[in-house]
Amino acid sequence: MKHARAELSLLAKRPRPMTVAGIMSGTSADGIDVALVRIAPAKRTPVASPDVPQLRLLAHVAVPYPAAVRKRVLQAMNAKDESVAELSRLHWRLGQLYADAVDLALKKYPMHLDLIGCHGQTIYHQGAPQRTLGGNVACTWQMGEASEIAARLGVPVVSDFRPADLAAGGQGAPLVPLLDYAVFRHAKRNRVLQNLGGIGNLTVVPAHDASEDVFAFDTGPANMVIDAIVTACCNKKYDARGAMAARGHVLTSVVEECLSQDFFRLPPPKSAGREEFGREFSARFLARCRKHSSRVEDAVATATALTAASIGIAWKRFVQPALRNAPTDYIVAGGGANNLTLLQMIHEELAAFGNITLRTSDDFGMPTAAKEAMAFALLAYQTWQGLPGNLPRATGAQRPVILGKITYA
Ligand SMILES: Nc1ncnc2c1ncn2[C@@H]1O[C@H](COP(=O)(O)OP(=O)(O)O)[C@@H](O)[C@H]1O
Ligand SMILES: [Mg+2]
Repeated sequence: MKHARAELSLLAKRPRPMTVAGIMSGTSADGIDVALVRIAPAKRTPVASPDVPQLRLLAHVAVPYPAAVRKRVLQAMNAKDESVAELSRLHWRLGQLYADAVDLALKKYPMHLDLIGCHGQTIYHQGAPQRTLGGNVACTWQMGEASEIAARLGVPVVSDFRPADLAAGGQGAPLVPLLDYAVFRHAKRNRVLQNLGGIGNLTVVPAHDASEDVFAFDTGPANMVIDAIVTACCNKKYDARGAMAARGHVLTSVVEECLSQDFFRLPPPKSAGREEFGREFSARFLARCRKHSSRVEDAVATATALTAASIGIAWKRFVQPALRNAPTDYIVAGGGANNLTLLQMIHEELAAFGNITLRTSDDFGMPTAAKEAMAFALLAYQTWQGLPGNLPRATGAQRPVILGKITYA
């Protein structure tokens, strides 16, 4: 009897299931993704089981930024002369837009929310320390005032996930690997999760059941350079389904020249953003392409090939050596999963390595646009329960840490 009571009190202390909204705005600055997710505590079995919660996506809503907001966000990311007043206003306005987006999701899919996790909009990220005013400083800045969201929705918000990892010596990125591990780990198959957002990043989950083996890193630009070229040359947001790239010829010498850049050689953990592959990189890239061809399609095909080749290089150098002797699923998510030419080029890059099946997260019931928003729902849940959210091998942090700051409603 005594024993049974002890067991009961243990159960009472266990975390309860929660419905959590994850809000994500990536470096593409295309808009806001909201994922409504049911998260339940890890199921412990008599045999040791990995201590990660179980997730079920209930709904996903994508809300594009209004054109003026997107313009201002991109301007802020390249800030040289942005005033502090304008940045502060943008921070608060984004908070309102995030609240609007959750509101919209709840109107469409009415449900009770327990918690919100908001990544915010990164306007600056510098994962490696730099000498600053006599000290060494790594820093990151995600905008979107959480108080606006908590006040409007009446639900507590976890935000600002990256700083705790930076302060623990990590790069503050990538933070999606915990979700990748929680959802995709497989005892008999290697799983490599590729996100194709503005930047590309990849998580390696070897066929095995230990989160310590999971590592991740940014592979380089995914859509960022492609988007910049079609915007500059055709005033379009992106190369829909990769149609322009499909009509172009790849300028291989430009791809090779770019790949000699240090970033691609650096071993993981490593992270990148607009600081590395933003406006300046894209302008140089386009100028190089134009030396060889005047066709926009060729420049777009070359930018697409750069993304595929950077993944090929990463595979050879860092992924292949870490995989176990088992079949491998390469699972793509993010907006780039809609770019068929990019997928075809990646497929060709990986063909050389054998026994790899290319899938999209849709094949696993997870819409490609919802995955990162789901990750921030999970990370908010972890924080609320007092549990860590980073994987030190992925970010380079010295230890697992509880991420984020909580704003109460
Ligand atoms: N139909 C499509 N065809 C080709 N590319 C697309 C399509 N839809 C989205 N994308 C690409 O995906 C990007 C947005 O992807 P997303 O995963 O939201 O990135 P981020 O996390 O950086 O915001 C767009 O900027 C565009 O480059
Ligand atoms: Mg996006």
